[in-house]
Amino acid sequence: MLKVENLHVSYGAIKALQGISLEVKLGECVAIVGSNGAGKTTLLKTISGLLAPLQGSVELDGANLIGQNAYDIAKMAVAHVPEGRRVFTEMSVLDNLILGSYVKVAKDHRKESLDYVLSLFPRLAERKNQLAGTMSGGEQQMLAVARGLMLRPKLLILDEPSSGLAPIIVEQMYEKLGEIHKTSDMAMLIVEQNVPIALSIADRGYVLENGVINIFGTSKELMVDPEVKAAYLGFH
Ligand SMILES: Nc1ncnc2c1ncn2[C@@H]1O[C@H](COP(=O)(O)OP(=O)(O)O)[C@@H](O)[C@H]1O
Ligand SMILES: [Mg+2]
Repeated sequence: MLKVENLHVSYGAIKALQGISLEVKLGECVAIVGSNGAGKTTLLKTISGLLAPLQGSVELDGANLIGQNAYDIAKMAVAHVPEGRRVFTEMSVLDNLILGSYVKVAKDHRKESLDYVLSLFPRLAERKNQLAGTMSGGEQQMLAVARGLMLRPKLLILDEPSSGLAPIIVEQMYEKLGEIHKTSDMAMLIVEQNVPIALSIADRGYVLENGVINIFGTSKELMVDPEVKAAYLGFH
């Protein structure tokens, strides 16, 4: 459903992505893993229309996304959960969720979507009238994911959902993401520095290093790949 080919993105003289190609198929969960500064956020921002590439193509179900703005891409049912959560801390949990359904098709199904995300995240249901900023980091990350789901996405893009969270909270977060993946036909694209946790739920993965992808495969293949093990899985 998502096809990225030969993508090049620069910030002035800094070449952040140098010829990236990847694919996400219907209902698949794909992980892009790599260290800090590898180009992961740049890749996601380009897919969702926040950055323009120098070269290359991004297609969603055959439609060209290059040149479309972030709002048009959201209307095509692509939800981007940004790095660092970015929930509206001075607004209630409920109002944050409602903002996630800002495009017409999502608005038409708002009640249904709210019921779905509040049943998926009972913690948010308990805290729905609380200001988002009063919640823990893990709860805010869950809110950010739930807000993304309010768009009724066919592709959910997540930028480092584990970032800044304690290991036990990361596990709980990924348990939820795995549950979402198993119980829906939505495609997911997850970017992570935490390689083992991302591969634990992804069907396939790509390793992004200095703006290029040299290693990719099924999560099972990557977990036993000697280079991946040495660089990212903490085995010596
Ligand atoms: N706004 C920016 N201006 C200039 N350079 C940037 C900007 N954002 C990112 N970069 C650079 O682009 C490269 C990739 O960054 P990024 O996509 O944020 O990596 P990651 O998300 O994998 O940590 C890095 O070298 C980073 O310093
Ligand atoms: Mg990043």
